[in-house]
Amino acid sequence: MARIGETVLRLASVDSTNNYAAKGVAEGRFGHGTVILALEQTQGRGQWNREWLTAPGLDLAMSVVLLPEKLPAMAQFALAKAAALAVHGVVAELLANAGKNAAEVRIKWPNDVLVDRSKVAGILIENELQGSMVASSVVGIGLNVDSRGMESGMAATSLRQETGRAMGLDLVLNKLCNSMETWWQKVGVDDETISSAYAGHLWAKGRFADFTLNGKEHRARPLDVDAVGRLIVEEEDGTVRAYGMERLRFIR
Ligand code: BTN
Repeated sequence: MARIGETVLRLASVDSTNNYAAKGVAEGRFGHGTVILALEQTQGRGQWNREWLTAPGLDLAMSVVLLPEKLPAMAQFALAKAAALAVHGVVAELLANAGKNAAEVRIKWPNDVLVDRSKVAGILIENELQGSMVASSVVGIGLNVDSRGMESGMAATSLRQETGRAMGLDLVLNKLCNSMETWWQKVGVDDETISSAYAGHLWAKGRFADFTLNGKEHRARPLDVDAVGRLIVEEEDGTVRAYGMERLRFIR
């Protein structure tokens, strides 16, 4: 199996790197580990059909093709955890190198990466199943690297904003590929390490946070994530429940 990032396709402009990667996978053109990087996305997509905007040439928009050989569909959330941990690791390392507090970097379920309360990266994972197995996965990562001018207090931030340093996209890309490779290697092999690291970095863990549950406001305390990726929370009355992302969403 090739290492992640052994092949990197660099595109000046594309609708969405996830679309481009999915098409190439469907046509059998992209092998495992292929990375698609775009300087500009004209129709970047986020979770829940939201739009994803990046500053052209300043932020990272990339998709990683994974072709698991034996990953059951039931275990597919391991890919989301691995991807979030990979991005988390790179952001934490870059903050630490700049003398900042890496403990402020958290994973907001299911797979946003925050610095303090502001989002620095989002991940859109699109899996193709074949029977009960995952045949392919496109891991789309949007990481705000060098965008400027975000007012403090806003819900978004960038590496530049957090570290005060300009970062080359290639440096960040390299680190991300290596970090993805490290966490990918553990999928299906050392899921315990993945799960405990993910739970350890979970944003709002142990404190009451605002959600919507089936569209209605809801307060609950995140505790952990179960094997299928549902968030385990403690309700205000002390009961413990698990909800999937189609029902439960963080408000902020
Ligand atoms: C989110 O937080 O809503 C997920 C954002 C994912 C954005 C990335 S950018 C590269 C890849 N291509 C897309 O169209 N989306 C993902």
